[in-house]
Amino acid sequence: MSTSAANEYVQSIIKSFEIDAPLLKRLTSKYIESMENGLSHSSGGKSHLPMIPTFITSLPNGTEKTDILACDLGGTSFRCLYIKLQGNSKFTTEMKKWEIPSDYLAEEGRDLPENAFFDYLANKIVNFVQYHNSNDENQELLTTKKNFNLGFTFSYPVEQTALNAGNLIRWTKGFEITSVVGKDIVELLQKSIDSKLSSVPEEKYPFTISCVALCNDTTGTLLSGAYTSTYDSQDIVDPIMSIICGTGFNIAYMEDLKSCTKLTAEQMEFISSKSVTEMCINTESGSFDNELSVLPVTPYDKIVDEESTNPGYHLFEKRISGMFLGEILRLVIVDLIDKQFLLEPKPSKKQYRHKFSLKTEVLSHIEIDDSKDLKQTELYLIESLGLRTTTEQRHFLQQITRAISRRSAYLVSVAISAIIIKSGRLDPKSPKYKYHQELEVCCDGSVVQYYPGFKSMIRHGLSLGSLGHEGERRVHISMALDGSGLGAGLAALTASK
Ligand code: GLC
Repeated sequence: MSTSAANEYVQSIIKSFEIDAPLLKRLTSKYIESMENGLSHSSGGKSHLPMIPTFITSLPNGTEKTDILACDLGGTSFRCLYIKLQGNSKFTTEMKKWEIPSDYLAEEGRDLPENAFFDYLANKIVNFVQYHNSNDENQELLTTKKNFNLGFTFSYPVEQTALNAGNLIRWTKGFEITSVVGKDIVELLQKSIDSKLSSVPEEKYPFTISCVALCNDTTGTLLSGAYTSTYDSQDIVDPIMSIICGTGFNIAYMEDLKSCTKLTAEQMEFISSKSVTEMCINTESGSFDNELSVLPVTPYDKIVDEESTNPGYHLFEKRISGMFLGEILRLVIVDLIDKQFLLEPKPSKKQYRHKFSLKTEVLSHIEIDDSKDLKQTELYLIESLGLRTTTEQRHFLQQITRAISRRSAYLVSVAISAIIIKSGRLDPKSPKYKYHQELEVCCDGSVVQYYPGFKSMIRHGLSLGSLGHEGERRVHISMALDGSGLGAGLAALTASK
């Protein structure tokens, strides 16, 4: 390829990742429409957002004071937590964490029976509680059989039918255990816990464990954001939604109960009897526009989707989250090698052809590399892909990296704008409008937390898109403290309300 042809080709790649103001606005309108349809239709369809009711109908205010048990299944790890809420927006946790063995992941786990993975989780939970119980300063507890209420963060799309019941719609983020799809996650976990507890004499485990709340990580983040930010706060803040942007991407927010028209008459009657007016909705935003009616599509997005464990689904997430940003850049690099713009690495260093071999963390270094001749980038590319580059090529790759991350952040801004607009908080005619209020967006996840400039790029997207500058300046983006862990505990607490 001649230099000018190469230049042109790279510029066309950068262009393909661009999202301009009109497209931001079109995406936002589509997102609002997709939310509205999702609130009135079942969660499984492709043409609208899943909008899953969580049966959490109020947020904590920071004054809650009690001890709670929680566990959290993330993309690659499992954690058990014993949380002490101190009643002043503060808390302490005792925690254990395990990496999920590869036997349960991807193809290796595909054909496992439905109880296998839950037996593994139950084993960890029971041993953790046993360990905690035997170390508990209050030894009296050991003399009577104690029940621990458990909140379970399970960050996959689940059709929730009650606070403590929900069927797995599909796996995302690397799991494939087919026998679990369509099953009630809480029932499976509870069965495995009970069977573990009954397999040994009562003296060994002088307690019972009841899984009382199933919680998505975004729901947990909203609960945790509300608990940690409201007590004693000088600012007028209002946690309006929570975002996870790490391995996966998702948003939860509080919706008017009367808009959740897909709730059955029985569910509605039960909830209304508690005199509440709102419910937290797990939007499963990763699944926005799976029909690709407005979302931009590059050739690299198509390959990412084809090689993923859930082709055709979570297409929004595949343009946003940490699991995929590295893969998008790797596919661009493969293309540039195939076009002979980049030099093919020596045969012994062919890792650049391995799917998902480029971690998003590498992009975060390239993004802000200002070393002479981009020497840092040079080292990262050699180390991660065996790729040798010239200074000029590295400059191109940096521009492409920035285009990929900017697109990701702009897409996040679309979802934020849509939820704010739909909520009426910026509309002076709406009862939800409050003149002096900041709209707090509680975040968690490695990309939003660590990717350099990500939050600023979101803000830029907010101001360029449907919120405009006036709306953007009302938005307060904060980091929530351990949304998935603390949040699961707080969800368990709502079970007793
Ligand atoms: C995936 C899951 C969703 C989760 C998100 C963030 O999109 O489907 O449930 O909240 O990842 O972890």
